[in-house]
Amino acid sequence: MDKRKMLPKRARMDSIRGPIANGPLQSRPLVALLDGRDCTVEMPILKDVATVAFCDAQSTSEIHEKVLNEAVGALMWHTIILTKEDLEKFKALRIIVRIGSGVDNIDVKAAGELGIAVCNVPGYGVEEVADTTLCLVLNLYRRTYWLANMVREGKKFTGPEQVREAAAGCARIRGDTLGIVGLGRIGSAVALRAKAFGFNVIFYDPYLPDGIEKSLGLTRVYTLQSDCVSLHCSLNEHNHHLINEFTIKQMRPGAFLVNTARGGLVDDEGLAAALKQGRIRAAALDVHENEPFNVFQDYFLAGSGGGGGVGGVGGGVGVGVGGGVGVGVPAAAAPYSEGMNGGYYGGAQAAHSTTAPPINTSDPANHQMKQESSDVH
Ligand SMILES: NC(=O)c1ccc[n+]([C@@H]2O[C@H](COP(=O)([O-])OP(=O)(O)OC[C@H]3O[C@@H](n4cnc5c(N)ncnc54)[C@H](O)[C@@H]3O)[C@@H](O)[C@H]2O)c1
Repeated sequence: MDKRKMLPKRARMDSIRGPIANGPLQSRPLVALLDGRDCTVEMPILKDVATVAFCDAQSTSEIHEKVLNEAVGALMWHTIILTKEDLEKFKALRIIVRIGSGVDNIDVKAAGELGIAVCNVPGYGVEEVADTTLCLVLNLYRRTYWLANMVREGKKFTGPEQVREAAAGCARIRGDTLGIVGLGRIGSAVALRAKAFGFNVIFYDPYLPDGIEKSLGLTRVYTLQSDCVSLHCSLNEHNHHLINEFTIKQMRPGAFLVNTARGGLVDDEGLAAALKQGRIRAAALDVHENEPFNVFQDYFLAGSGGGGGVGGVGGGVGVGVGGGVGVGVPAAAAPYSEGMNGGYYGGAQAAHSTTAPPINTSDPANHQMKQESSDVH
């Protein structure tokens, strides 16, 4: 059989958007920066060949008619969303460039149907996000940010007892398990860094081929059984709220959670409940589903039982609950709790477990997670 006959017909771009003219263009094409104001890298390249419009829009309803009718190229950060309806408003658009790696704010399928190519910058911020992730992880373990703020707020350390009290909750890293969800560019960079600090690094990524774990010297798993879970997967239609009430129950009691990937991966309500109950000991979040984010209102307004503390950590937000697993300390009783500079886990905390049970793949709970994972993906 003629193999060509078996191939599905490819949509012809020129039938959707009109033919691309040969020869020099009559006028400079219009390229629009849809959101944000920074295109310092792109501008020197574009300035001689295109007219660049700065839209600074939060949604397509704010974009000028001329741009909607004439722009052939669009640059965008992550603060604007392009649904099918939004994309249909652009009458001449040929290409969208996401200045970043994730394309979760663009309906890529609809763009393809409309003959609009979608590009991203896959290497964007790999090292910086990995570095930030390690800062957040280290801070959860070693609590340097909170300790520095105690000193800044005037706390005096006059004896070993006070030092011990202030350091309560600091946990030992060596031997603890860091579970990476999504071993792509950033996840791998985090894994390499975490190994240097002595973490036992495991990962979950169902899309990677067998054997990748051997090349990187990591352990491949199908559970969330880690002392610290760090999210590095792309957000897609299969993994929205991957971390939710159910999956949190699959995690080790008192685990840390770090999210520098996408806010939509975490169900905030499930996380807030787990923080209040101490099932998640603390979380460091660089991203939120709905931004701007009010951490006090969204996590702690409805009277937490734990001595919670919140605060900015690096570019993100740290969220801590008092007392470790099952030991809640009322916020008022916890020194330095909810301080504007960052909060405090509060109360006497058991050291973070370094003797958590090994992952038991014959454990039905783990299979449940595996089952859930394959359902989800
Ligand atoms: N915080 C920031 O400023 C910032 C900056 C850049 C990227 N990001 C985000 O970081 C994340 C990772 O970026 P990257 O460049 O490493 O992407 P990448 O595409 O290189 O890696 C993503 C990995 O996630 C895996 N994956 C997808 N769905 C999964 C799931 N349900 N479970 C487990 N693994 C899954 C993929 O197989 C892939 O290996 C993305 O969400 C990206 O949007 C955040």
